[in-house]
Amino acid sequence: MVRYREDYKKYYDSYANADSPKLRDTNPSVVIVPGVGLFGFGKNKKEARITTEFFINAIHVMAGANALESGTAPDPLPQAKTGEQSKEFTQFHNYVALPRSEAFRIEYWALEEAKLQRMPPEAEFSRKIVLVIGGASGIGREVVLLVAKKGAHVMVSDFDSAGAESVAQGAAALSLKEQISHTRVDLSKNASVADAVSFTVAQFGGIDCVVNTAAIYPVAATDGELTESQWANAFLINVTGNYLLARQTEWVFKDQNLPGSVVLTGSANAVVPKKGSEAYDTSKAALNHLVRELAIKLGPHMRVNGIAPATVVAGSTMFPRDRVMQSLDKYKIGYSADEDTEGLRSKLADFYAQRTLTKRPILPQDCAHAIVWLLGEQSAKTTGHIIPVDGGLTEAFLR
Ligand SMILES: NC(=O)c1ccc[n+]([C@@H]2O[C@H](COP(=O)([O-])OP(=O)(O)OC[C@H]3O[C@@H](n4cnc5c(N)ncnc54)[C@H](O)[C@@H]3O)[C@@H](O)[C@H]2O)c1
Repeated sequence: MVRYREDYKKYYDSYANADSPKLRDTNPSVVIVPGVGLFGFGKNKKEARITTEFFINAIHVMAGANALESGTAPDPLPQAKTGEQSKEFTQFHNYVALPRSEAFRIEYWALEEAKLQRMPPEAEFSRKIVLVIGGASGIGREVVLLVAKKGAHVMVSDFDSAGAESVAQGAAALSLKEQISHTRVDLSKNASVADAVSFTVAQFGGIDCVVNTAAIYPVAATDGELTESQWANAFLINVTGNYLLARQTEWVFKDQNLPGSVVLTGSANAVVPKKGSEAYDTSKAALNHLVRELAIKLGPHMRVNGIAPATVVAGSTMFPRDRVMQSLDKYKIGYSADEDTEGLRSKLADFYAQRTLTKRPILPQDCAHAIVWLLGEQSAKTTGHIIPVDGGLTEAFLR
């Protein structure tokens, strides 16, 4: 690679004159590894694909020229303007390559340079690859849509594969189809997380940002007690799954040797104790500390942060009708059993909003904006922290 860059620079220096556009990227855009395959590189998947298509096409042109071979090539070559110029062309059997000076003139053509200069500026997440676990619903879905709009390559990953596919379709409509993909993952299974990570690397060539919003809120049976397996499952998904995710992506970040960002999703419940949600609340408290531990373990390349939302009713599958009715009963909010679920949910959201300092329901988009800030360069100096997105909940103020 170092040699290629040096050779490219020499090629530029040999043919450039005072009016030539400046030296461009000296990295190869196609790399062939014998016995393995052909790898295309570009600022996005589309560019990498087109580059390899050109390369393969050139191979076909060579093959076609050789298939038409009919003895020795004429001298001088018909492509040359003069007999002398004929010597500058490289020949491989019947295939004739342009002289390097001509190739340079095409590559650094003033009109080509003018076109490049007029390209729209790259978006914030152009060249970034974002893996979103929990992307089929709620906050994860909004993260997918937001980073897709900001130019990212996105892998939408979720236990709910149909949901992930549908969100991926929505994201593709905001971006480029080939920049968005989806896959099923079960965060509670190490092998499944490893597969989702490998699939992302195979689709897009790496990973720059990892988001997890997936979690479960176990609901007790009528006796108010969770079973042991419900309790264990809450910790398996809400805590251990996050650890597995960091462990399975660590090698990618190390191999890339580039800065990366991980954002996990906690909850205001991590610091506000409540009756009846002990497993969920303690799992989220553990997650807060995991964020700090992982920030230490995975630095300096990977930053690890979290957000702590409170009661995001809109768009969430965490508030099914029975949980909403239980909460309305708990807070003695009047409702009729005939009311539709959306009506009940908005009653609950309004109630929660009144408990906050800002008095407005918290939306999944609010949480997505905080996550995306933590993913981007603007938060490059923040790691090991949890940002509340709770509307201003005085009980959750950090002491
Ligand atoms: N909604 C709230 O009020 C609220 C409040 C505080 C914290 N949070 C936290 O925010 C995060 C997202 O909440 P949401 O409202 O968007 O939830 P949601 O239920 O709408 O979305 C969660 C997604 O996680 C997926 N998922 C669940 N288990 C999984 C598993 N084992 N493997 C892979 N995917 C799995 C689900 O299929 C779902 O698509 C959660 O971590 C939650 O604890 C939510």
